[in-house]
Amino acid sequence: MDSNGVYHRPVLLSESIAGLHINPDGIYVDVTFGSGSHSLAILKQLSPKGRLIAFDQDPDAHKNKIDDERLILVSGNFKFLKNFVKYYQAAPIDGLLGDLGVSSFQFDNPQKGFSIRNDGPLDLRMNPEIRLSAKEIINTYTAKDLTTLFKQFGELKNSYSLAQKIVKLRQNEPFTSTLQLVNAIKSMAPKRKENKFLAQVFQALRIEVNEELDALKQMLEQALEILKPGGYLSIISYHSLEDRLVKNFFKTGNFEGVLKKDFYGNVLSPFLVETRKPIIPTAGEIESNNRARSAKLRIAKKQ
Ligand SMILES: C[S@@+](CC[C@H](N)C(=O)[O-])C[C@H]1O[C@@H](n2cnc3c(N)ncnc32)[C@H](O)[C@@H]1O
Repeated sequence: MDSNGVYHRPVLLSESIAGLHINPDGIYVDVTFGSGSHSLAILKQLSPKGRLIAFDQDPDAHKNKIDDERLILVSGNFKFLKNFVKYYQAAPIDGLLGDLGVSSFQFDNPQKGFSIRNDGPLDLRMNPEIRLSAKEIINTYTAKDLTTLFKQFGELKNSYSLAQKIVKLRQNEPFTSTLQLVNAIKSMAPKRKENKFLAQVFQALRIEVNEELDALKQMLEQALEILKPGGYLSIISYHSLEDRLVKNFFKTGNFEGVLKKDFYGNVLSPFLVETRKPIIPTAGEIESNNRARSAKLRIAKKQ
């Protein structure tokens, strides 16, 4: 909770819900329940016949469960989307919303290890049952694997020297806390870019720990399978690695963004893209909620 007792302030709320073009009697999925703000907005537009299935892999988010018999809240990873939706006899669905990444509660709670400001265990697991935490990764991955991780998931220019430094330091004392890592590596940040550098390092670790890109790909592929023709996907992402996957998938139906054409040269894609450019928050929204600053919303309709 922040100092006002707020779990998470929703980002691009009206824009992402409008993107679903809600059919009041339809079946919808919110793959990232968090505080439940987007789910609540969907429920408000549903008739008594409508249904909503929501997911969150973090048990803490389940404390925000909305008391509404049209809602099923699944405790699990959205990479199992299809299995759960079929289990609840909810396929095909009319639309799906994803508000990717981490909630403010997760960021602000030092015990979860996402914060670069407050000391806490080097954890970064959204779900405490995930096998490897950041601590194991930092202390056991080879220098080569750490280099790849920082390069691919943090897009860091000095991934190699960062990995070498970590491997050298951990021989004296294993890394166990977030500020221990921050203090050990902050001198490697480019001038006046310390926060950005540290955020990229933590982003890389977070993506690896939670296998975020893999889960996103699996979820999008399954969403396409279970979505009705004419149904909508509305996805908010917060960094370029996620946004690229969403953008490519909407445009081409694959994650590499390879356009397939028919005999006449018409582009073959399972979607009609509603947002040629992503929708971004207004200056007013960013001013009142700094976490919205990197958000990008993309909307697509299944053909
Ligand atoms: C940005 S927050 C969503 C906030 C929510 N829309 C709201 O306004 O309160 C992302 C949430 O999705 C959850 N999450 C992220 N990746 C997930 C995954 N692969 N499976 C299930 N839940 C996931 C996180 O635990 C977090 O609570």
